Amino acid sequence: MTNNQDFENFKRKNKITPPMLLEMKRIGMRISMLTAYDYPTALALDSAGLDAILVGDSLGMVVLGYENTLPVTMDIMVQHCKAVALGAKRALLIGDMPFLSYQISKEEAILNAGRLLQEGRVQAVKMEGGRERGNTIEGVINSGIPVMGHIGLTPQSIHLLGGFRTQGKEAFSANRLVEDALFLQEAGCFSVVLESIPNNLADYISKKLIIPTIGIGAGGGCDGQVLVTHDMLGLFQRFKPKFVKQYANFYADMERIFRQYCVEVGEGIFPDHEHWTNMPDLEWEKFLEIEERRFGSR
Ligand code: KIV
Repeated sequence: MTNNQDFENFKRKNKITPPMLLEMKRIGMRISMLTAYDYPTALALDSAGLDAILVGDSLGMVVLGYENTLPVTMDIMVQHCKAVALGAKRALLIGDMPFLSYQISKEEAILNAGRLLQEGRVQAVKMEGGRERGNTIEGVINSGIPVMGHIGLTPQSIHLLGGFRTQGKEAFSANRLVEDALFLQEAGCFSVVLESIPNNLADYISKKLIIPTIGIGAGGGCDGQVLVTHDMLGLFQRFKPKFVKQYANFYADMERIFRQYCVEVGEGIFPDHEHWTNMPDLEWEKFLEIEERRFGSR
């Protein structure tokens, strides 16, 4: 590839792959990623030109209403990945490995990651954690499955971390995050999510790595950005992290629309003649004649 415009054209016509994300970093093109949990959202993201779509286990909170991501299972993830895969024709599709699907053994991790590819139809998986992932990540990658890492605020360790709070604010923990990022790169990850860490630290890590960093609450120095789609659309009402830019307030729109529907049904405004069909006149007449023969009156 010669320049960004050539690559942009190439990207528009081809399915995005993990090596293409590395190439984007190399030539200084930023990577856009959002989450999807269903077919229509995947279609919209794909046609809008997103580089990557993540079926995040955040679906446990924003779609299923759980307090955190811990109750999400492999079966739930497979179901949502399948739906999203039908809409994600061009964007790289990444499936999140849920809690306990990769922490127990390398063998289970390979089987579960494989399930997300075989049944869920994703092209890559994401796993939380740094050095503690030991040889699990290598094992999955050696099975031919691309892995995206995820460090900083790792929601599956929410109880260990003591809540949804920024990580790496002190020198020691920041140094450890740099080591973890390098560990993930060494293990073969094609990219790493940096969640809720200081801007200057994320910038430093991004410059140190050859693989692209995808930031969420990690400032502007990352090689790409991801948001939870329900947060950026204003669909998730329980709380709004400081780093979220809300592009719309879909929850308020939905509430207003549902209220209007209630009123229109109540007042007989909906349905109207454009929403129904009548039987053809001739058939209606025949129908009434039969009714008359059967019951003696119309
Ligand atoms: O589950 C998710 O949506 C995620 C993103 C926040 C990166 O892990």
